[in-house]
Amino acid sequence: MSLRIALAALSVAFSMAAAHAQQPIVIKFSHVVAAETPKGKGALKFKELAEKSTNGRVKVEVYPNSQLYKDGEELQMLQLGSVQMLAPSVSKFGPLGAREFELFDLPYIFDNVDELHNITQGRIGQSLFKKLEGKGILGLAYWDNGFKGMSANKALRLPADFRGQKMRIQSSKVLDSEMRALGATPQVMAFSEVYQALQTGVVDGTENPPSNMYTQKMHEVQKFFTLSDHGVIEYAVVVNKKFWEGLPPDIRAALDAAMKEATRFANDISKQENDEALAKIKASGKTQVITLTADEKKAWKKALLKVHKDHEGSIGKDTIQEIYKETGFDPAKL
Ligand code: LMR
Repeated sequence: MSLRIALAALSVAFSMAAAHAQQPIVIKFSHVVAAETPKGKGALKFKELAEKSTNGRVKVEVYPNSQLYKDGEELQMLQLGSVQMLAPSVSKFGPLGAREFELFDLPYIFDNVDELHNITQGRIGQSLFKKLEGKGILGLAYWDNGFKGMSANKALRLPADFRGQKMRIQSSKVLDSEMRALGATPQVMAFSEVYQALQTGVVDGTENPPSNMYTQKMHEVQKFFTLSDHGVIEYAVVVNKKFWEGLPPDIRAALDAAMKEATRFANDISKQENDEALAKIKASGKTQVITLTADEKKAWKKALLKVHKDHEGSIGKDTIQEIYKETGFDPAKL
């Protein structure tokens, strides 16, 4: 090869390398809720912070509302590396073989967010993330979305009201037991399909915090929404392990810092977002919001306590006892 051609080939190689070097690292962040929710806003905050702190060397593409992947496929796509970041509800890790995450679904196990944070920010939260590593997934953070209510086209005040109701749930065996303990029939369904299923009567009701009820317009097809606070919607922000560990150390450090700040942001806005969504649900006049009396809530708790015992096998009796200690939960006091 003449020197001239060799030099030409070299300059092409250099310019390609330079172009490649300037191409941003792309993080596809897929989730299933509306942008105007704690998780949706947390994802956009992470995008803002990550792109700013890496001077554009990282580009975060956020895909809300199941636009890219929906329930039931998003975790496999993460393992395949087709998407780099997700924030699924912790109630959706059972099919992956990590049923221990369903400890968060134990009815009435948390009275408030501080008790929840004793778990997410403590030993138990980190030990759950450890269980994902063998599946090619790294857990980065937990994001809150508050306490769930129960909705239906009949008033749900007491467990007896659930009889004959078909209730949509996430893919969690604990939530399956929860609905059966109340006398309802559970039906697992992707979040993106719930509105239409409620509208057409495929299911009679569901459970979610106000921010999800409102942003998916579920309040428009549900006559009643009971503020039961029987469980939480909590998210695990997870990444593809190979991708994350392959990042340049300086980039990974910047993204870790961005995730810490986005987590603080998402958790700080969670309560306000849900309070505002509840106010909008009430103002719509489309659904009657029910507050339980102390006796009614006691009846729910008594009916649901057996779910804890029934899931000692999948969650671990010691883990449940540890959560009782961390949260001050006393079954005898129900
Ligand atoms: C649900 O499927 O009901 C929720 O997990 C959706 C979400 O991500 O908040």
